[in-house]
Amino acid sequence: MRTSIDIFAKVRDHERGPVLAAARQADVVPYFHLLTSPALPVVQMEGAERIMLGSNNYLGLTGDERVLKGAEDALHRFGTGLTGSRLLNGTIPLHLELEQELARWMGTEEALVFSTGHQANLGALATLLGPGDTVIVDSGNHASILDGCVLSRAKLRPFRHNRLEKLEKMLERAQGDGGGVLVAVDGVFSMEGDIAPLGDICELCERYGARLLVDEAHGAGVLGACGAGTAELLGVADRVDLRVGTFSKSLASCGGYVAGPHEVIDYLRIYARSFLFTASGVPAALGAALGALRVVESEQGRVLLVRVLDNARRLRDGLQERGFAVVAPQRLPEDGSVQAHAPGVHEDAGGHTIVTPIVPVLVGDDWKAALLWRALYDAGVFVNTALHPAVPPGGALLRTSVMATHDDATLDRALEIFARVKSAFEAEHGPLPAAIRA
Ligand SMILES: Cc1ncc(COP(=O)(O)O)c(C=O)c1O
Repeated sequence: MRTSIDIFAKVRDHERGPVLAAARQADVVPYFHLLTSPALPVVQMEGAERIMLGSNNYLGLTGDERVLKGAEDALHRFGTGLTGSRLLNGTIPLHLELEQELARWMGTEEALVFSTGHQANLGALATLLGPGDTVIVDSGNHASILDGCVLSRAKLRPFRHNRLEKLEKMLERAQGDGGGVLVAVDGVFSMEGDIAPLGDICELCERYGARLLVDEAHGAGVLGACGAGTAELLGVADRVDLRVGTFSKSLASCGGYVAGPHEVIDYLRIYARSFLFTASGVPAALGAALGALRVVESEQGRVLLVRVLDNARRLRDGLQERGFAVVAPQRLPEDGSVQAHAPGVHEDAGGHTIVTPIVPVLVGDDWKAALLWRALYDAGVFVNTALHPAVPPGGALLRTSVMATHDDATLDRALEIFARVKSAFEAEHGPLPAAIRA
């Protein structure tokens, strides 16, 4: 007996097929464009110079001499690869140094280095949660959190992005589920660029006896006086149970980590399958991450944090002035918990605000977003495009992001290009959304 169903059939007939074919025909596919230079403020892509407003290299450290030297030294000392898992033959002194420095940075007892941030989320979530437990997640969380939850087979209870009353409802419901409860949220949301109200979330978790995991992928190396992330900025680092991070953004490399109490890290070290059954990160990646972390912790770290957050405001304000739909600076709680003197925190009549380096421009329609992306690309600016299902239907956006190493002239040039492209685009395709979401 042979099955009549070919599992390859779906690759010929799937829901994204027709849209992709049309986008290819119109030459507006915003993905997989070739970068032929380092991820610096201005890059070479497909034969032309483009201003890079689509990188997660927030501190601009991928080309920093100290980070390059960290990678180079590690490469020459330990070779090109470790060819095995951390457990058996892939742990080198750089792992231990990194783990110690990360734990100190995060203010936790310990940290565990994974080969990627995705694997760090899988490891923490799928190992600590089991079929009898409940995990409550923000709908805007990164895919790797969702993947970890699915793998754990815990009951998944999502809530509307940053809606605390919905989170509370889920915490109430979880009381009847019968197992342990974990809330998992991004500190800075990767597409929206807004931050989670961690003070309120901590309070709710404490009230309902739930543990809290915060993914600091876009917060660490960006927010807080020491750049330790959203939990630091919001003054709740000691109330967050676990913090996950990545080396693939501010730390200018590749790899990830979970930081938390000794007993949990020790448990993950012997049970987390995404830690045990994969090769250790390459030495150069570890050396670069360690080099970058040391820059963040040095005196120059603060200069870079100030710079990247000032750049974010400059870009956000400039886009708003030119009529683009960008979010307002985010208001921070005024309960005395926030680090009001941390880099990037501004004070006005209404209180304190922050603009993270992720500045989304709302477009709405997927097709329009792809067309606008193309027009900007042709005019010399590269941005990221988030279409459904990465964002809710009708919520297509261009995700712009800045680096500490963008200078004012480059950002102003990008803004001029945005303005020029906008008028030509609207003349041909109709108006872009102008409203500012609160
Ligand atoms: C919020 C968030 N968490 C986790 C990850 C995964 O990190 P990595 O790229 O190291 O796998 C990312 C990266 O895209 C992210 O944006």
